[in-house]
Amino acid sequence: MKTDVPRSPPHRVKRHYGHSVLPLGNFDVGPLRDSFRFLRGFARNPAQVGSVVPSSRYLEQRLVRETRTADARTVVELGPGTGGTTSAFLRALPGAARLLAIELDPEFHRHLCGSLADPRLILELGSAERLAELLAAHRLPAPDAIVSGIPFSTMPPEVSDRIAAAIAQVLRPGGRFVAYQVRAHVAGYVSPYLGEPVKQWEVVNVPPVRVFTWIKPETSQSAIAAGENLKACDRD
Ligand SMILES: C[S@@+](CC[C@H](N)C(=O)[O-])C[C@H]1O[C@@H](n2cnc3c(N)ncnc32)[C@H](O)[C@@H]1O
Repeated sequence: MKTDVPRSPPHRVKRHYGHSVLPLGNFDVGPLRDSFRFLRGFARNPAQVGSVVPSSRYLEQRLVRETRTADARTVVELGPGTGGTTSAFLRALPGAARLLAIELDPEFHRHLCGSLADPRLILELGSAERLAELLAAHRLPAPDAIVSGIPFSTMPPEVSDRIAAAIAQVLRPGGRFVAYQVRAHVAGYVSPYLGEPVKQWEVVNVPPVRVFTWIKPETSQSAIAAGENLKACDRD
């Protein structure tokens, strides 16, 4: 079902360089500095960054489509990195919508603050584990979509589980969680909360990645269980 989101003229996303016309974000000349910045981030903390190059334009566009960003009021990005994906979401996002981007790496966060200027964007430094707290701090409603490139396969299992639980808790019923990952570990953490995902591959990316999409049930399992209890009580 489409939500009725007020439209306003598209925002220009201010960056310190133009967008390349080449198809692979990974090898563009324009964002070459971002690619080096990203590589330096990987060298600082390979397990946390999880990739040596930013996402390609093809992956960015797939994520925009899978999250239904053009119809969203509130989107959350976990792990914006050097901001290529963030810019793609901002280009698609309606004028009155908000994007909360949570990044753990202080240098990436500093770069995002200096290079992305958009009144719809909220940049936070910290772990995705703080998702619920940060949404509340900014008085944001339950997100229509959450998108994540954070590497669930290399994080401590308890951290991955806390993030999966937080995502399932805060997402609005019918909302989407989209994860792009080299490995499939994310499904083991998220599926117990949100059920089976739709799985795709984006091969025009270095490396090719899996894209998982979950849609939060309109009626949660706990609500179903509560309803069954009610019926059982009614019969008494
Ligand atoms: C694979 S990169 C994706 C970067 C960017 N979105 C892109 O597609 O080019 C993963 C990002 O997640 C960040 N990250 C890792 N663990 C995180 C956590 N617990 N909370 C927030 N960000 C995290 C990393 O620092 C890195 O910037």
